[in-house]
Amino acid sequence: MNGFETILYEKEGGIARLTLNRPEVLNAQNLQMRDELWDAFQAFRDDPDARVLILRGEGSAFSAGADISDFGTAPSYVESRRARHERDLWDLLLHMRKPTIAAVHGYALGAGCEMALLCDLRVAADDARFGLPEVSLGYIPSAGGTQTLPRTIPPGVAMQMILTGDPIDAREAYRLRLVHRVVPRDELHGAADAWAQTLVERDPRALSYAKDAVVRGLDLSLADGLAFEAALGARLAATRA
Ligand code: COA
Repeated sequence: MNGFETILYEKEGGIARLTLNRPEVLNAQNLQMRDELWDAFQAFRDDPDARVLILRGEGSAFSAGADISDFGTAPSYVESRRARHERDLWDLLLHMRKPTIAAVHGYALGAGCEMALLCDLRVAADDARFGLPEVSLGYIPSAGGTQTLPRTIPPGVAMQMILTGDPIDAREAYRLRLVHRVVPRDELHGAADAWAQTLVERDPRALSYAKDAVVRGLDLSLADGLAFEAALGARLAATRA
């Protein structure tokens, strides 16, 4: 897909690769990048030939978070609120009905860390560092981090990371299961591709229903979640009959 300036989006054999591409600022996310991510996420969602999405970063980092040069300017604040109201980028990623994989190296701070948390699977290079520094800047995480992090790692540790802003390294992220795998830096893309290839070979409807059951089920009571799972299972079986 052409026409993007802050990201690269390419597709090959059912695998879509979206690369954050502002390496000169460690892939800091400005409004243009968020607009382009919105378009690319929608393109992935609506493309039946794109089965698995890999998110990754160009250069030395995955993403150092929101572009802090946008901070504190009134038009940007208003713009950000408007953009968030009209386009819930993070909800779109979380509720994508196809698998998503974050391949993280270098810094994954703020919205960079949060973006990875909204993916289904996370593979990290051994140089990755994860952190939520927003509070130290006088803000709070706003790409879901206060909700996704304590649902991913022990809530007390999430609280510590959010209040202190202190980053953790890849080894600690793996110990906490913030990431599913850690690999040497030069094996990161191969590892993500191999995982994506495994998923491309799965039944896409089964993947979609299973993901929906897990993501939406987390908001339900156990009884309601079990009923939801049964309903999805019946619906999937009916489409096979
Ligand atoms: N927004 C805008 N620019 C950013 C950025 C961000 N979030 N993170 C890094 N950059 C820019 C730097 O300003 C620098 O630009 P310059 O070369 O024009 O000076 C460039 O990216 C490289 O960063 P630098 O600070 O020189 O790299 P480093 O390895 O010394 O430090 C970090 C890396 C991530 C520790 C440091 O850049 C940092 O603290 N960034 C801000 C992280 C942050 O607070 N994110 C916001 C979360 S809400």
